[in-house]
Amino acid sequence: MLLPLLLSSLLAHISVAVARPQSYAVWAADSAIKRGQGNGLDSSGKPTVSYEHGELQWGLRQLYEKTGNKTYYDYIVSAANRIVDVNGVIASAYKPADYSLDPVRTGPTFLYLYSQTKQAKWKTAADAFRGQLNGQPRTGEGQFWHKLRYYNQGWLDGIYMGDIFYAQYTKDFQSTNTTAWSDIASQFTLIYKNTLQKPGSANYTGLLYHGYDYSHTAVWASPDRGHCPEIWDRALGWFFMALVDILDIFPKTHSGYASIQNILKDLAPHLRDAADPQTGVWWLVMTQPGRAKNYFESSGAAMFVYSLLKGVRLGYIPDADGSIVKAAKKAYQYIVANWVIANSDGTMNWMNTVEVGSLSGNGTFEYYVGVPLVVNDLKGLAAFLLASLEYERL
Ligand SMILES: *[C@@H]1O[C@H](CO)[C@@H](O)[C@H](O)[C@H]1NC(C)=O
Ligand SMILES: *[C@@H]1O[C@H](CO)[C@@H](O)[C@H](O)[C@H]1NC(C)=O
Ligand SMILES: *[C@@H]1O[C@H](CO)[C@@H](O)[C@H](O)[C@H]1NC(C)=O
Ligand SMILES: *[C@@H]1O[C@H](CO)[C@@H](O)[C@H](O)[C@H]1NC(C)=O
Repeated sequence: MLLPLLLSSLLAHISVAVARPQSYAVWAADSAIKRGQGNGLDSSGKPTVSYEHGELQWGLRQLYEKTGNKTYYDYIVSAANRIVDVNGVIASAYKPADYSLDPVRTGPTFLYLYSQTKQAKWKTAADAFRGQLNGQPRTGEGQFWHKLRYYNQGWLDGIYMGDIFYAQYTKDFQSTNTTAWSDIASQFTLIYKNTLQKPGSANYTGLLYHGYDYSHTAVWASPDRGHCPEIWDRALGWFFMALVDILDIFPKTHSGYASIQNILKDLAPHLRDAADPQTGVWWLVMTQPGRAKNYFESSGAAMFVYSLLKGVRLGYIPDADGSIVKAAKKAYQYIVANWVIANSDGTMNWMNTVEVGSLSGNGTFEYYVGVPLVVNDLKGLAAFLLASLEYERL
């Protein structure tokens, strides 16, 4: 048992030495670009208004700022041009009447391009998303529903999808709109309050369940608080990324800033402690560590590394003893050793990202572990680009 293991890790290291480039961030981005990922089109060549494209563009923009290589900027522009026409109309794949927060995640790209070019079409497109948020259905406490058809449901994912855009739009065009700033902060504090796993719960992590149903009617809703039964790594990953990204945008002078930062400060040590002690990475279903069929999932791990390293770098997360950065580094090293594969054409493959995780079903452990893994899934690959950008700054 031991010998084949040793041999395979030895072989893995040899191929590492031969094939790996200087920057994993560049490698991840170039591989995605070479495959045409995140280019504004779906697999059948039709325009798609996709949050994972928005996530990749967030990373490409930082890579452009770091390297000055205009290839990355041009790729963002061409992808965004495929989903916004000359008049600023968003492609019909976007269905405003669905009131889904997911497509809104492309909004930060529109705002970025407006800031760079001042072309009115990007503002027009951003206005459409801002209009959606004005009519977004809400729970009785004011939380945006994830979609119109997910009645009264707040999901962690939705914070990343909707609120970075909401904040950047407010900063750019309505910076004194305190109603908007308070609303943005309350999207974070409401989801935190309603999904936080309480001490004394079985398999206590101190982290956040995937989502909740304010009306307690979903099949998975707990009778006491309406939350779903499991903590899903990627949903928490989206939320962590939202926490570290929003603090760059949110005004320090508004009390919501401290509320958001306090959530991050509270959760970060729990996230550190939830990592598997041996590998340093995290289980797909974080509430069921080590259970048969559970596994270490790569998109969540990459999102956590990005969030922890960025949070400490910018002083959002205190790390006096260095244990947060140490945990993130350990996870990152596991990630590159296990989930990054060199291809003969010079690109890399990204492994072990789960295709989806939704609360449209029964929300059980069996559901989450039954969803297939996808090679080069952009949600994970883009997160790896972000994690690598942070790791390579250390
Ligand atoms: C910019 O990035 C592209 C894509 O990776 C690469 O082909 C090109 O050589 C880079 N340009 C410079 C000046 O580094
Ligand atoms: C300020 O934000 C609130 C909440 O999003 C919105 O209803 C209102 O229209 C905004 N005010 C202005 C002047 O745009
Ligand atoms: C606690 O974790 C164990 C190990 O993964 C698992 O078998 C058990 O079902 C979990 N308990 C609950 C209530 O989730
Ligand atoms: C929940 O759904 C999964 C499929 O997504 C199924 O395998 C499992 O049996 C269901 N569990 C319950 C309790 O309905």
